[in-house]
Amino acid sequence: MCGIVGILGDHEAAPILIDALKRLEYRGYDSAGIATVDAGSLGRRRAMGKLVNLSDLLMHEPITGKSGIGHTRWATHGAPNVINAHPHRAKDVAVVHNGIIENYKDLRDELTAAGTVFETETDTETVVQLCMSYLNEGLSSIDAAAATIKCLEGAYALCFLFEGEDDLLIAARKGSPLAIGHGDGEMYVGSDALALAPMTDKITYLEEGDWAVVTRSSLEIRDADGKLANREMRTIKVDAGKTDKGIHKHYMMKEIAEQPTVLADAIGHYTDAETGTVSVPNLNIDFTTVDKITMVACGTAYLACSVAKYWFEQIASIPCEVDVASEFRYREPPMSDKSVAMFVSQSGETADTLAALRYCAEKVAKTVAVVNVAESSISRECDISLPIHAGVEIGVASTKAFTCQLIALAAVVISAARARGEMDAAVEQELHDALNNLPGLINQSLAHQSHIDAVTIDLAKAADALFLGRGVMYPLALEGALKLKEISYIHAEGYASGELKHGPIALVDEHMPVIVMAPKDDLFDKTVSNMQEVMARGGKVLLVTDQSGADTAGDGVWKTIIMPPVHNMLAPVLYAIPAQLIAYYTAVRKGTDVDQPRNLAKSVTVE
Ligand code: M6R
Repeated sequence: MCGIVGILGDHEAAPILIDALKRLEYRGYDSAGIATVDAGSLGRRRAMGKLVNLSDLLMHEPITGKSGIGHTRWATHGAPNVINAHPHRAKDVAVVHNGIIENYKDLRDELTAAGTVFETETDTETVVQLCMSYLNEGLSSIDAAAATIKCLEGAYALCFLFEGEDDLLIAARKGSPLAIGHGDGEMYVGSDALALAPMTDKITYLEEGDWAVVTRSSLEIRDADGKLANREMRTIKVDAGKTDKGIHKHYMMKEIAEQPTVLADAIGHYTDAETGTVSVPNLNIDFTTVDKITMVACGTAYLACSVAKYWFEQIASIPCEVDVASEFRYREPPMSDKSVAMFVSQSGETADTLAALRYCAEKVAKTVAVVNVAESSISRECDISLPIHAGVEIGVASTKAFTCQLIALAAVVISAARARGEMDAAVEQELHDALNNLPGLINQSLAHQSHIDAVTIDLAKAADALFLGRGVMYPLALEGALKLKEISYIHAEGYASGELKHGPIALVDEHMPVIVMAPKDDLFDKTVSNMQEVMARGGKVLLVTDQSGADTAGDGVWKTIIMPPVHNMLAPVLYAIPAQLIAYYTAVRKGTDVDQPRNLAKSVTVE
């Protein structure tokens, strides 16, 4: 899940590489590096930690050259230090890599036996050393790279740069995405179109197993069998201008605050005010014949699916299974050819979700992508792709993508329920109205920020926290816990309220904040009983509910956050806002790196 970029340009490459790496830093920020070729001479600079450290280094030790490659790293093999930072170099060749070379140990042993001395612990160094060994045998740069790529197993997006070659990049893709950008007398390589957005919107995506010879005036792509391949060049709209923080201190806060606007936009795509109906453009599925929905995703996207499972079963009466993508295919689940498999992913590049999609592709009636990045691999490989309309999400903690995923999934559920005769026009109108009320309700909840900020004074001192929810709020409790641990590093767990007494209640004492997400719905009284069980044992309950819930809950609650009343079905969308704000303000108080929490990356392109 590293970010890679390559440039054959007409200007000094270093500042352009740094600028592109800034847009790729969401893929990893353990170290960064660049290499350039200037009048045939290969040079490189690398620094540990965030990109800013590399920029500082370049101020003191600049490198010149109009051709170059760059990398921002999320460490897999080898500690995140300078020596393991990319680009890796073996005399005449430098390489940047995203992915994992699975047979690197065998290759390394063979090269070591032949006398190669390795200086790093990485799988990527094997690639440069192998390529250099082919150059030593007298192969040309292109042939050496091609021979190297042939030996590699695992997942990779690679870009090679050579000593003595001012007008050559070799790019290769298997398992990790790679885009070639077409400029005016310039060519680029990047992990995604966003990295290349200020330079070009003309993109050719490499397909699985492709490798490409790139010069300023030509692009030659070959497939895995070495045959010349014709890949379409597309014009991709990515608004790189929208990637600043605006008035906010962090991307996460900006993205939380954007939710009324982006949700209104998303809801506008699915609802029709004139007819009072909800529909999903291009959802070409006959739901009357569907016997099951399978949903597969990771992290927050998985939790959006977990909310949708309640909706599919309760509202559309379709059996629904939800799986964590990293486990799904190892169960080898039998799939029905009357079922629909949905793959939910903000990035559309998550390796496990993509692998699950490939497992299902030939086995189910339809595969459906629910993605934010329209040109992503998951989007391109599914039969149907539904955009969530969240706009670029930069903060590693997913916020607006989660709520927009829920909106898209709600629209699918309502369409399915109508098609199956499970919903009449009056109920559809009610849900249509409830959806359109959501942006206003989210605005109202955002007005409680200073109260939530104050609540986190004590929360930030806690070592552990529990989140509880019942019914459709249970996945939201899991999401609240995930958000809190991800950015504040406080250990947090989410539980179904009724499950508490089956073990976790042993953790409860006067130091344990227990955050209960519970609108006043049909299940509320049962949740209040669970709260009483916590309070009887000295636990501190933070209740997130509406006024009616707060009035019913009675005394003994430690703190309360009052939410506006909301339609039961859509409560998880609205209650996501306090869950996000609790995590955000706690993390800010603790002084952690909110947008780039330790050890994480936004896009997880390794299994
Ligand atoms: O891009 P994806 O939606 O497939 O990413 C899935 C997870 O990696 C992601 O949701 C992750 O859990 C977030 N950092 C949570 O905030």
